[in-house]
Amino acid sequence: MERSVAGTRRDAVVTDEPGARDSTSRGPSRVSHVAGSQERIRTVVVEDHEDIARLVAMRIATLIRERNAAGEQTVLGLATGSTPIGVYRELIRMHQEEGLSFRDVVTFNLDEYYPMPKNSIHSYHRFMWENLFSQIDITPENVHIPPGDIPRTEIVDATRRYEGAIEEAGGIDFQILGIGKTGHIGFNEPGSGAESRTRLVTLDAVTRRDAAADFFGEEHVPREAVTMGVATILGAREIAIIATGEHKASIVQRAVEGDIDVEVAATFLQRHPNTTFYVDRAAGAELTRIKTPWLLDEVQWTQELIVRAVIWLSELTGKAILKLTQRDYADAHMSSLVAKFGSPGEVNGKVFNVLGSKIRGKSKLPTGRKMICFSPHPDDDVISMGGILRKVTENDNEVVVAYMTSGNIAVFDHDVRRYVDFLERLASERLIEPERVSALAAKIHAYLQNKSPGEVDIPEVQDIKRIIREAEAVSGIETVGLPRSAARFLNLPFYQTGKVRKDPISEADVAIVKSLLEEVRPDLIFVAGDLSDPHGTHRMCKEAIDKALLELRGTLRPEVWLYRGAWQEWPIHEATWLVPLSQEELRLKIQAIFKHQSQKDSAPFPGGYDEREFWQRVEARNKGTAAELDRLGLAEYFAMEAYVVE
Ligand code: F6R
Repeated sequence: MERSVAGTRRDAVVTDEPGARDSTSRGPSRVSHVAGSQERIRTVVVEDHEDIARLVAMRIATLIRERNAAGEQTVLGLATGSTPIGVYRELIRMHQEEGLSFRDVVTFNLDEYYPMPKNSIHSYHRFMWENLFSQIDITPENVHIPPGDIPRTEIVDATRRYEGAIEEAGGIDFQILGIGKTGHIGFNEPGSGAESRTRLVTLDAVTRRDAAADFFGEEHVPREAVTMGVATILGAREIAIIATGEHKASIVQRAVEGDIDVEVAATFLQRHPNTTFYVDRAAGAELTRIKTPWLLDEVQWTQELIVRAVIWLSELTGKAILKLTQRDYADAHMSSLVAKFGSPGEVNGKVFNVLGSKIRGKSKLPTGRKMICFSPHPDDDVISMGGILRKVTENDNEVVVAYMTSGNIAVFDHDVRRYVDFLERLASERLIEPERVSALAAKIHAYLQNKSPGEVDIPEVQDIKRIIREAEAVSGIETVGLPRSAARFLNLPFYQTGKVRKDPISEADVAIVKSLLEEVRPDLIFVAGDLSDPHGTHRMCKEAIDKALLELRGTLRPEVWLYRGAWQEWPIHEATWLVPLSQEELRLKIQAIFKHQSQKDSAPFPGGYDEREFWQRVEARNKGTAAELDRLGLAEYFAMEAYVVE
């Protein structure tokens, strides 16, 4: 069921497009006979976000070139947020390297917060100029973005004019959309009707919570926005809606397979004749054709699919794997699996053994090796792999923990004040030099007093925030038994913007990672393998490591173990290794997480998807993995960490 799409750099794996239909067909009935018949929007699943960026940018470029050749302008509908950034980057590359011109392109953005001055770091005006317009040859008069900076009394007229301008431009040829956790497209929150047009709306509480990190606190997120309506969006001739990351998986499934519902604006896209949903594997994970394809059609039973399906069946029936019967398999459309093996006992036994062989206690973990744990932020190391860190240290491995970014933007100003106060107290008791402290303290107090939310900190404050996190990190690894000398702080340049938005990974980042790899020459490295951290920092850190490894591939090939934990955990069927933790080991791990005091209670960026503190998520996930294994009928462990060998 897989084929590749030519023309992408690394041919993107695109699963068959079962929902594909001619551009005039509507609704699910026309496709009910094919696999994936649950899908009511044509959906393309590709390997990762870069593949989506290339596919969508290529489609836009083709459209622009076709229309240019016909002497016509192209009208694009554009989105902001984290999702389309890759597409914009690719369009900029095409402009710079392939001469793609935007001189005859007219753009209309979906939305803008209200109220919102154009020059604010949070404004979508600024976002669009920074991420796209300033780097292409678009004519400024051709750019349209809903106004966030006009008096309330003028909004109705302005939104009418916005609709009029779209019409005058001949309508939107190609619209890019992201999808919010509420299922919003644009800022059409639950309750937005199919007939809605550009207007002022109130933002949903979930949307505001998701935006809290960008605004340095939920209280600073505007309550309203001006957005194109559902009908405005559906008026576009072609629509590409994009979602990436595990955290989008359930809303993607709802939008693509669920009924049309005013509570989930994206479901209205099911009525649009020419919409394509582009998702990466993580965001597509809940789609029936990916999660449980055997329910739809005949499948090729690969080992991965067999393990996944049997675990699913065991969960569905509430039975241990070794107790699954012929009847259970037949009822779940899985008779072909039993036929392949000859009897249910054979299948059950195979999967039971596969799962059993994943378990790696201390005696089965490496000894006497060199290892690097790459931790995107100071705390991902202990949050995600505090248990294994202790075990491999006890096994006499030489472990370096490399903190890739300073994590300074996630430290509260009040913590800076507390540490400065501490310094002042030391100085007043003459334990340190008072003169230098008082000058620094005065500067910092004066700055913090007048600082506005989200303002980039002065260097001294950024440094103090970085040092707070460095001290916490050292204390964290000491808790799990590593010496403080094991900590290395890479301070990668891509992160040093002082802002939530980061620079792209550059040669300078890769060089730093590469030089550490060359110095340590590890046999094994641990890398964060999660895609859904709110600002993409984990993904960017992995990109720097992958690039460094590629450059070194002739001389150095360490084994790569991917960990998760801060946002999600690897499911049992995907994990290569499951590492059991005793009660004492989990307790120590949690204590190590507590050392990251600046991130406790209400850290600025715990992510909008989960209200629990990190240690609570870790406890639940590690105990949950063990409990699941127990429920499947394997041994009963206290807790477990999971790793995927790349
Ligand atoms: C942005 C917009 C929103 C976002 C959606 C997803 O202009 O209208 O609908 O597309 O909230 O946001 P990200 O991409 O940040 O996950």
